[in-house]
Amino acid sequence: MKTLVLANQKGGVGKSAVATLLAHHYRRLGLRVLAIDLDHQGNFSDPLRKSQRAAVADVPASGLLAQNNAQIPAADFVLVAADRDLSGLERQPALHNTFASNFRLFLAAMDARFDVCIVDTNPNPDIRMIAALVSADFVLSPIQLNQEAMDGVSALLNHPRVGVRRIKAVLNPKLHLIGLYPTMVEATPLQRENFMQLIQKYSPMLIAIGPKPGDIASMQRRSAVAEAQAEGFVLWEMKKTAARDAWREIEPGLTFIANTVLSPPAGEAPTTIQPLNGAHHGPVAR
Ligand SMILES: Nc1ncnc2c1ncn2[C@@H]1O[C@H](COP(=O)(O)OP(=O)(O)OP(=O)(O)O)[C@@H](O)[C@H]1O
Ligand SMILES: [Mg+2]
Repeated sequence: MKTLVLANQKGGVGKSAVATLLAHHYRRLGLRVLAIDLDHQGNFSDPLRKSQRAAVADVPASGLLAQNNAQIPAADFVLVAADRDLSGLERQPALHNTFASNFRLFLAAMDARFDVCIVDTNPNPDIRMIAALVSADFVLSPIQLNQEAMDGVSALLNHPRVGVRRIKAVLNPKLHLIGLYPTMVEATPLQRENFMQLIQKYSPMLIAIGPKPGDIASMQRRSAVAEAQAEGFVLWEMKKTAARDAWREIEPGLTFIANTVLSPPAGEAPTTIQPLNGAHHGPVAR
């Protein structure tokens, strides 16, 4: 199982929307998906619940940190949903190591049961974020193209507690930052200018999906994405032309990101996809 964490200390940048799209995308490929919502706001849990595609675990997400040996249903798509107790975990510092350790052991116990685990996080640098990052293989950081959000990139890397550099150096050397994923991109002159600035300043952290400098994974602002998120629809199954157009734009970048999570470290065999409905999909090429 590969674990991907969506993280950015800036709120409202599209973390939960991207987590939801990725979960449905992996299911469409026939992969076994474990979805964990560590944000008490529940914006990853709600759309998955409404979609009625995932078995919802009895144990809430706080239980994965607070309990030893949490159990979840035997299913190929399981949601461990957000709950209110998540926001109280930070106030129990004496238990923080136990929380991180419980979460890590839980994920280790799920290793053979799922192909991919997607963890959505809250926008605060607290114990939930640490527990997620110390146990993950990959982190993806959705970002909005405004100055404030772009200034936050440095915190993503260098925050003294949850910065990816620190986590990687001290706690989890295998953690790989896939990169920054500009979301809610609009064709305004200001956003275009900010995009160019982002490319210049952070080009190694952007996700190149083609040979040209502008071939960067990004997601436009499209009302169909917000509607899918609010109603629990799967974007590419929506009947509206606008939804199909939105997915056509989003698909190359999102697929590239999804495949990065599945591609093996050099020298290892690729993840073999479990057949769904008897069809064999074969390994996913990057
Ligand atoms: N590409 C998009 N186009 C239009 N609306 C979007 C897009 N991506 C996300 N949204 C909407 O923007 C709002 C914020 O997105 P989302 O909840 O995914 O952000 P977040 O980073 O998870 O926020 P938080 O930090 O509060 O958890 C939601 O209403 C969501 O549906
Ligand atoms: Mg969210």
